[in-house]
Amino acid sequence: MSVINKCLFPVAGYGTRFLPATKAIPKEMLPILTKPLIQYGVEEAISAGMTTMAMVTSKYKQAIKNYFEPHTDIEASIKGTVKASLLDEVNHASEQCDFTYIEQQQMLGLGHAIYTGKPLIGNQPFAVILPDDLCTNSGDSVLTQMTKLYEQHPDCCIVAIEEVPMTQVDKYGVIDGELLDGSNNAYRVNSMVEKPSPEDAPTNLAIIGRYILTPEIFGVLENTAPDKNGEIQITDALTTLAKQGKVIAYKFQGERFDCGSVKGFVQATNAFAKAEGVI
Ligand code: UTP
Repeated sequence: MSVINKCLFPVAGYGTRFLPATKAIPKEMLPILTKPLIQYGVEEAISAGMTTMAMVTSKYKQAIKNYFEPHTDIEASIKGTVKASLLDEVNHASEQCDFTYIEQQQMLGLGHAIYTGKPLIGNQPFAVILPDDLCTNSGDSVLTQMTKLYEQHPDCCIVAIEEVPMTQVDKYGVIDGELLDGSNNAYRVNSMVEKPSPEDAPTNLAIIGRYILTPEIFGVLENTAPDKNGEIQITDALTTLAKQGKVIAYKFQGERFDCGSVKGFVQATNAFAKAEGVI
């Protein structure tokens, strides 16, 4: 069993890059082929041994909760037909895990969303998945890879990173650090900067939407000031812990699609359609 059994999904954001669709449909419910992004995220968490899916939602995102609950009318209508298995994956996830929910009342940033999830997590290490970063690979899932690293560094937070073109660093949190002894993919983080200009970026190692956080993060978030846009950034809170040597950045194996952007969403759709033989 994993030492981490809860995964937090901060999914309260408005998803404005996908308007008008996201006026009525949560971004996380947009499908890659037939499966919504949130389900890919939940499956990754299950693959890493997690049993509680803790959702930070908003009053506009009831569809996410509905999705993980039984729909007896549809079940009845497809029973005994060739479509009978189409709900198996979501039903399996619902049966296998506990789903817990809390609403973020104001969109005050990812750090604030994670802090809002504190009552669902309690005093234990936990994973965070941003489902609009869709990760795929042939071996261990990204979260499984991170859980294994965490087991060797139980006092540290782990952030997933990937190299991005220097021209794109201003879309990400970027780390500065040194490779751990004997490692070619794990860095001890010295500092982090949120959305730097290419001139100011210390590296092109960008943080993507997978984290393992120790409960210490909640106390730090409580004391993290909002940025110039009034948002509480998880990067700022992690910077505080990085200064104490408590953050490791992990260059994961696999591929990530930025499904929070239209381009990344289309790329993911094409890649999955080719892999499944749809096109
Ligand atoms: P994003 O900025 O990528 O998502 O936040 P967004 O705000 O929903 O999308 P755009 O930029 O308007 O198109 C990263 C993640 O943090 C969550 C989002 O739901 C997303 O999963 N988030 C962000 C919250 O839960 N609450 C917030 O206040 C902000």
